[in-house]
Amino acid sequence: MFTIITGSQFGDEGKGKIVDLLSTNYQIVVRFQGGDNAGHTIIAEGKKFKLHIIPSGILSQSRLLVGPGTVMNPEIIVSEIDNLAKSNIKITPEKLGIDAKTSIIMPYHIQLDELNEIARQNKIGTTKRGIGFAYIDKVARDEIQLADIIDKHRFKQRLEKLLPQKKEAIASFGGDSDKIDGDWVNRYIQLGQTLKSYITDVSYEIHNALEDGKNVLAEGAQGTYLDVIHGTQKYVTSSSTIAGSACANLGIGPTRVTNVIGIVKAYITRVGEGPLPTELGGKIGDQIRKNGGEYGTTTGRPRRCGWLDIPMLRKAINLNGYTQLVLTKLDILTKLSPVKICTGYKLNGKTLKYPPLQTHELANVSPEYTELEGWNQDITNIKHYSELPGAARDYIQYIENVAKIPITSISLGAGREQTITKDKI
Ligand code: GDP
Ligand code: IMO
Ligand code: MG
Repeated sequence: MFTIITGSQFGDEGKGKIVDLLSTNYQIVVRFQGGDNAGHTIIAEGKKFKLHIIPSGILSQSRLLVGPGTVMNPEIIVSEIDNLAKSNIKITPEKLGIDAKTSIIMPYHIQLDELNEIARQNKIGTTKRGIGFAYIDKVARDEIQLADIIDKHRFKQRLEKLLPQKKEAIASFGGDSDKIDGDWVNRYIQLGQTLKSYITDVSYEIHNALEDGKNVLAEGAQGTYLDVIHGTQKYVTSSSTIAGSACANLGIGPTRVTNVIGIVKAYITRVGEGPLPTELGGKIGDQIRKNGGEYGTTTGRPRRCGWLDIPMLRKAINLNGYTQLVLTKLDILTKLSPVKICTGYKLNGKTLKYPPLQTHELANVSPEYTELEGWNQDITNIKHYSELPGAARDYIQYIENVAKIPITSISLGAGREQTITKDKI
């Protein structure tokens, strides 16, 4: 079985929690795009783990893989491995494999990301992790791969060609190009030696696992509307975040996919700039942010919050080919009455049921809402769907009816046990 999980909104839908939960049924959990711009939270046995690049299957028996379509900061992955060791979670080469072709995020990528953000008149609000510049180098064929940093001579040879070019780019932004002459090169060579034993051929491993009848779970980072092709350009990340990207980035043909799970938060959030049609200012927005702990896992920035947006969900289902949805953070809507759902938009006098093609049009829509009755009962300890208040079930049913695919699980709290099943996954 090959399952792909992606976020259906702007990221932070609760992918980490759901991947952790499902990973017990999968022999492999693999990241296929993005880098440490991602922040995936797992809570188990009272302990909180925030993962940026290691896949969210750390607590299960599954093997974890980082695919070649990701961009990896070696300092971050090594510190994640070290921090997990402090919690007695041993991330050995038997547990974790990293593809030799994984792009390495270099210090100059981070410097350029910061400088570019400062220079932009209309900010994107990136995580400043160097993600965009690492992907630029991939398509420009100037990337450094993991295999390069473990070979000292090859690495130094590559840098001889690249560093003058990077110095020029940094200087053109008015940045300090002398920073590049720091001693980070030796540190990277050291990190390469630490990571050497983790190198693997991710595509081959997954193929072999599928041939042997094993289960593989591909864990998306970010969300559908941050997709570099289909998202809200230019307010997007620099990788393709939709389900099809898992196939291309892992080298697994689309014929191998068994199911595609979309994670939908019961409301919507966005961190960084760009349109968010249902954004709530004022008291309700503040209440959702506070109760939902809606602050960036990676940057700590407050997330912008809004009502659930059905036109965006419709498009996300199309873009990803979802076979089922998991609804998260339903508990955060408790005591909000009425609960609103955006069912369409008004744009230039017309009613739309689907997001307009262009980002500037999406920024100009006026959302139209349906109001549903709320519920006041604490739902965080409910164990069966039938025990949910009628209004909460109506909310779920409403989404299912418009989505036309099943909501198989509902998350009622950050803990593993705070998840109820509607239908079998
Ligand atoms: P991801 O990037 O999609 O993995 O999501 P994040 O980890 O960045 O953000 C989701 C946050 O919500 C984390 O702090 C989770 O622990 C928490 N969370 C996940 N599901 C639920 C839920 O159903 N209810 C509540 N209250 N919190 C949840
Ligand atoms: P997870 O995996 C939410 C956003 C940034 C910014 C834009 C571009 O935790 O859901 P980048 O640094 O990628 O060039 O920034 O994308 N962004 C995320 N927002 N969750 C994420 O990841 C994100 N990763 C990037 O805030 O708006
Ligand atoms: Mg996150």
